Amino acid sequence: MRFLLVLVLMLSLISCSMLLPIKVDKAGDIKIKSTPERLVRGEYLVEHVAGCADCHSQRDWSIFMAPSIAGTHGAGGEVFNEAMGTPGTIYAPNITPAALDSWTDGEIVRAITCGVNKEGVPLSPIMPYPNYARMSQEDIYSIVAYLRTLAPIANEVPKRKLNFPLNLIVRTIPKQAEFGTLPYKTDAIAYGKYMTNAAGCTDCHTPMEKGQPVAGMEFAGGFTMGMLSGGTVNSANITPHETGIKSWTKEGFIQRFKALDIPAAREVPLAANQVNTPMPWTYYATMRAEDLGAIYDYLRSIPAINNTVIKYPEL
Ligand code: HEC
Ligand code: HEC
Repeated sequence: MRFLLVLVLMLSLISCSMLLPIKVDKAGDIKIKSTPERLVRGEYLVEHVAGCADCHSQRDWSIFMAPSIAGTHGAGGEVFNEAMGTPGTIYAPNITPAALDSWTDGEIVRAITCGVNKEGVPLSPIMPYPNYARMSQEDIYSIVAYLRTLAPIANEVPKRKLNFPLNLIVRTIPKQAEFGTLPYKTDAIAYGKYMTNAAGCTDCHTPMEKGQPVAGMEFAGGFTMGMLSGGTVNSANITPHETGIKSWTKEGFIQRFKALDIPAAREVPLAANQVNTPMPWTYYATMRAEDLGAIYDYLRSIPAINNTVIKYPEL
């Protein structure tokens, strides 16, 4: 009897949530002009800042820092699963023209900023659309213009499986987006905040509970991720506390990344018993030094949070 009740309750919950309207408008009827400026800006954001080319290409987890594998650029297939702390099994889709050719510009903009794809399916927020919703219209248009120029790669990606309750609440997360504004570089903190948001640093560096970032712990680290190659890793505290990056100089911070902007950094095999890191170091290493510096300036301006993190608990 109890079982039946629970069953009925579950079924009604499921059917209600199936009916929950997705609060996102139809895709805009827009045609994005491809200009040389947009292609340059779009290339920079997709390949060096916003993580698109990192998540939407396959990564080689047998190499330290898991650089992306040549020939998979934008073709998707990278898996995010429970072992890694994802509530489900979700594959990054193909975003090369082989897949997006049949999408309108408005549909791509809506997917990137509102989290609803061409078929009207709500995307799980592992695709950081809530971040991209805060970017400027010009930056998003530049990203779309650039995506259209990627080499098309045919690659069919497996369907996702979302765990309960994400399979239900996924419909409630997409929101109609209003674009943000790109601050002037002279407004250093605001500009750094914009770049930090675009680069998705907070997504990994804030601990999560029940699929939600823990309030008051932004950038304090301690988000645990399992590595498919074995072991777990906790993200670092990157707030300006002693347990974070208080002792780091701006030059040291920039160098920590830029030192990896060499081909050799993408060729270090994972040693036996070494735990890999999901932090896309070699991807961010190609960001402009001044933008890494802006991210540092912003991180120095946020509240210092006391949180000692052991990055590799098994080592
Ligand atoms: C942290 C990894 C990650 C990053 C960074 C990321 N994506 Fe995604 N993206 C995903 C995943 C995973 C999905 C599929 C989500 C789902 O099906 O629930 C997705 C879905 C999409 C879709 C919908 C495709 C479809 O067929 O439904 C588009 C378009 C897209 N991403 C473009 C982008 C662009 C452009 C960027 C950079 C501005 C980007 N993504 C950055 C992981 C990522
Ligand atoms: C996919 C998840 C992920 C993303 C995205 C990410 N990080 Fe990390 N980061 C980690 C993990 C895990 C570690 C700890 C392991 C390591 O050092 O690589 C780490 C370590 C670091 C460290 C080293 C701190 C120390 O004490 O050694 C810094 C600095 C850092 N991240 C900054 C950033 C910044 C800035 C961004 C955005 C541009 C960012 N991270 C985005 C996962 C991530």
